Amino acid sequence: MTYERGNIAAMQGYTWGEQPQDDRTIKLNTNENPYPASPHVQRALAAFTIDSLRRYPEPTAKKLREALAKLHDLSPEHFIVTNGGDEALRLALTTYVDPGATFSMAVPSYSLYGVLADIQDAKLHTVPLHADWSMPENIGAQLNSANSRLACLVNPHAPSGTLTSPPTYSRIAKQMNGVLLVDEAYIDFVDPKRGHDSTDLVRELDNVLLLRTFSKGYGLAGLRLGYLIGHPDLIAPMMWKTRDSYNINHLSQILGLAAIEDQGYARSTWERVRSERGRVQAVFENLGFPSPPSESNFILVQSTRVAARDLYTGLKEHGVLVRYFDSAGLNDKLRITIGTPEENDRLISAFKQLI
Ligand SMILES: Cc1ncc(COP(=O)(O)O)c(C=O)c1O
Repeated sequence: MTYERGNIAAMQGYTWGEQPQDDRTIKLNTNENPYPASPHVQRALAAFTIDSLRRYPEPTAKKLREALAKLHDLSPEHFIVTNGGDEALRLALTTYVDPGATFSMAVPSYSLYGVLADIQDAKLHTVPLHADWSMPENIGAQLNSANSRLACLVNPHAPSGTLTSPPTYSRIAKQMNGVLLVDEAYIDFVDPKRGHDSTDLVRELDNVLLLRTFSKGYGLAGLRLGYLIGHPDLIAPMMWKTRDSYNINHLSQILGLAAIEDQGYARSTWERVRSERGRVQAVFENLGFPSPPSESNFILVQSTRVAARDLYTGLKEHGVLVRYFDSAGLNDKLRITIGTPEENDRLISAFKQLI
């Protein structure tokens, strides 16, 4: 006898990235920032008093939304702060996709999308990407003919790290009858020289949501803080109806604010990651393991000579965790998070020994 809803009983849950079992293992499998959050965050934490936890938190994360509005030159009504980017995805799905209606995603991409669609009992429509990870030219039409109420597309793409420019999303959103959520979890690592800025999408279109997170760029994956940017009419139902009443705890609001107020520090970590990304990518390329151009904090290394699964297992035995996906199109590759220079040296040295 099961009491679960039928679709919940039938579905598989999300598989988390492995956690290291000892202090020596280097964790390059879940795309965290290798650097800690700003010293401002540390100071805010030291000044934090437990008495402030007696009361419920500010329900709308007002100060954080105001600070985000200033950062992105938009209004606080363009923002909802969420318990990690993952909650943002769940809110978008439960707010914009009726059970039985269609949710779309490109494949491969973040596997949580499909899990959330199952929870919502939505029909999952997948759009296969080209071999170079680009989207089919007619993706907007495909999304419409599937009658997608919501589509999630990740940019920079995960797990390849490749970047698509905003006009492509503008074209898709203009064509789409439903909502387009562009998951920008890794946007902070894009080289500023590319001049990439997607926020005009929400200024110009009323069916676009941009997902951001403090987990990657701000070194705060453990805090669980993310946000959505969108037209106020698109944000409002999630803000006032579907989110948990106090979805952002008081400590997260304070530490998140301290993090975004120190843009200089955050940007310096992004720059360090970018510089190591270039170095690590070049080393692997010279060893005969190429990866597509990444604008993210990870690279997707292709292995034609050695089974990727064996490399993954071998690296693990050397105390280096990377991500192996046992699925078509990815099972000859490893996704490797860019670590500190020392971590990357250990990765490279272990890799050289293995091959
Ligand atoms: C593509 C993508 N989107 C969203 C997230 C959500 O991150 P978080 O819930 O930590 O903000 C992740 C986390 O790994 C991700 O890879």
